[in-house]
Amino acid sequence: MTQEIQKPHRTIRSYVLRQGRLTKGQQRAFDLHWAQLGLEYQPQQLDLAGLFGNTNPVFLEIGFGNGESLAEMARRSPGKNFIGIEVHTPGVGHLLMKLEEYGCQNVRVCRHDAVEVLQHMIPDASLAGVFLFFPDPWHKKRHHKRRIVQARFVELLARKIRPGGFFHAATDWQNYAEHMLEVLQGQAQLFRNTSPSGDFVARPEHRPLTKFEERGLRLGHGVWDLVFERLPTGTS
Ligand SMILES: C[S@@+](CC[C@H](N)C(=O)[O-])C[C@H]1O[C@@H](n2cnc3c(N)ncnc32)[C@H](O)[C@@H]1O
Repeated sequence: MTQEIQKPHRTIRSYVLRQGRLTKGQQRAFDLHWAQLGLEYQPQQLDLAGLFGNTNPVFLEIGFGNGESLAEMARRSPGKNFIGIEVHTPGVGHLLMKLEEYGCQNVRVCRHDAVEVLQHMIPDASLAGVFLFFPDPWHKKRHHKRRIVQARFVELLARKIRPGGFFHAATDWQNYAEHMLEVLQGQAQLFRNTSPSGDFVARPEHRPLTKFEERGLRLGHGVWDLVFERLPTGTS
């Protein structure tokens, strides 16, 4: 009789950790600013007012890449607090450099899996908004299970976003845009689509246009924005 080998359970993650060396500037930014702006992962709920030293509304960006959009949003809105989460270390370094350049004190940066940070560190109903800009699209069908936007993820967001707060996603991959729309529409008791046409919205002013996106638009590529509002609990 052949013995069945029990494989250890592995969580499906939405990213593959890329290697990447820090530039001198990024290393310097880590050395200078991590103690003040860095947020170490620990499975313990944060005191957000204590973290920022004020009670301003808190917005969270998942997978900020090199942080250009996040730094720009923070620069434009000093009366708002931002938490940025990214697993790619050079991207984190780049954001720290940008925050130094803009003199922003209203951002905290976490280098960890955003799903675990949301699950274990963010208090329920504490966020005014969550941003997910150009998440990894996982083009191949067999990889679609790696896409971060899934029903369980939307339920997690619903727990963390306060009523009246929003979830804003953007993608340049039409199939992922349609997938997100379908998943979010399947949670109509938790989120209301703010699109008057019931699908996508024009880029909201708060999402900065990146160079990459500008180039894509010039080449005629599409971008789809979705903005869903968190309904009061129990609304259907
Ligand atoms: C395609 S890039 C887009 C980056 C950026 N938002 C932009 O618009 O340029 C997606 C980013 O999400 C990050 N990412 C994916 N899953 C993540 C997760 N679970 N937690 C933290 N970061 C994640 C990846 O490391 C990658 O940098």
